Amino acid sequence: MTTYLLALDQGTSSSRSIVFDAQGRIVASAQLELPQIYPRPGWVEHDPREIWRTQLSTAREALAKAGLTARDIRAVGITNQRETTVVWNRKTGAPIHHAIVWQDRRAEPICAALREAGMADTIQQKTGLLIDAYFSGSKLQWLLDHVPGARAAADAGDLAFGTVDSWLIWQLTGGRRHVTDVSNASRTMLFNVHTNQWDTDLLAALRIPRSLLPEVLPSAADFGHTASDILGGEIAIGGVAGDQQSALFGQACFTAGMAKNTYGTGCFMLMHTGSQFQTSANGLLTTSAAQASTQPQFALEGSVFVGGAVVQWLRDGLRAIEHSGQVQQLAESVPDSGGVMMVPAFTGLGAPYWKPDARGTITGLTRGSTIAHIARAALESIAYQSAALLQAMSRDAVANGGAAVSELRVDGGACVNNLLMQFQADLLGIPVVRPACVETTALGAAYLAGLSTGVYQSTEELSALWKAERRFVPTLEHDRAQELMARWEHAVAQTALPHP
Ligand code: G3P
Repeated sequence: MTTYLLALDQGTSSSRSIVFDAQGRIVASAQLELPQIYPRPGWVEHDPREIWRTQLSTAREALAKAGLTARDIRAVGITNQRETTVVWNRKTGAPIHHAIVWQDRRAEPICAALREAGMADTIQQKTGLLIDAYFSGSKLQWLLDHVPGARAAADAGDLAFGTVDSWLIWQLTGGRRHVTDVSNASRTMLFNVHTNQWDTDLLAALRIPRSLLPEVLPSAADFGHTASDILGGEIAIGGVAGDQQSALFGQACFTAGMAKNTYGTGCFMLMHTGSQFQTSANGLLTTSAAQASTQPQFALEGSVFVGGAVVQWLRDGLRAIEHSGQVQQLAESVPDSGGVMMVPAFTGLGAPYWKPDARGTITGLTRGSTIAHIARAALESIAYQSAALLQAMSRDAVANGGAAVSELRVDGGACVNNLLMQFQADLLGIPVVRPACVETTALGAAYLAGLSTGVYQSTEELSALWKAERRFVPTLEHDRAQELMARWEHAVAQTALPHP
């Protein structure tokens, strides 16, 4: 009998469900868009009920498309947008507020106070994170302080906090389990990644009652069973990981020095550092990698804020193309960018630059520059930003006695763009490898679920399943690649706006 695994992939813009077979091949999938709520500039919310509704409906649809029932599914794996914060009432199951999404900046004053109080080093040492409103802890404090009655209810033990995985598991198990995994917990700024425990000092600093918090398990573990009325039968929930750590797992990056880059609206690059906790000297975050056992595993992480979003800007802002798919053709209509360099710092620059006030710039324009050169430069900017991140990771790895990254595994929507992937390899001087299954985020969750339920015996078995679809080998001279990176850094230096 064929073994099947169901992965629930709850992302920022959509909820998706994919049925995989035990070889990691997609059997069926379904997707629904998730409405975004923008109550004020800088605020981003999701309705937790919509998160659940869309996720459940895609799970049912994927099963139906696959012609399978709950009995055919060995286990469910969950992967999710990270940091997004949900608080609900334990008795009624009702959320007390919309979910505050990871992109939401409202908790910045709480973070400023933590910095002011000299907490930066302690927080980095305990959690691997830099103090920022991105993470769940300050969002949770905001909710307790601003939703009427919330703090009193929390003190009375009536409320539950969770990232999206916890919220989904609560729903899937009919309120029987309040759990999360280490990779999601590591994004809260409340979790000690060395001990894999909620940190008493950080809970005190952020004024978070412990009673709110979920139990934390390894990423491959027993997270409970779906209640029988949810998917038509009880199914074990066997794997949970935040989406970026799940993608690292799905790419079979299990050992120190293995790295992946996900090319989405933004790009998320993670490099495994094994069981060694390393802090970055180059502005990267340290995060818990998905853990198949109780032993801590770590990764360094950096993100590009504007990745594929630059193509949307070409379409909607510049009106250079009608559909995103036309960008490769336009960019390929010229042999190179003709010296044009574009830095899409629309919302500032993240690691390794950390210039929140930077704004986008285009350099190197001549009388001969055309929209095609700009399109090419826009596409190339995704590769330049990713290359700067990877170089920073390699510097950190070498400084910590490891080796520079020797191969980059890629996934996400824009990795289908061959021009971009070849240019990425050329800039990096290492092979860029696209796997046969680019749905690595969902695959990682399925693999974790399969590991805890005996479908797989070891990560070695998963490594053997990972297959490359295409290797992009560098063709550019090393000196030329360095010259291009120097021009990029020069363009980045132009992004700083003069202070008024
Ligand atoms: O940290 C945020 C990240 O997990 C969101 O990923 O793919 O939902 O945009 P995505």
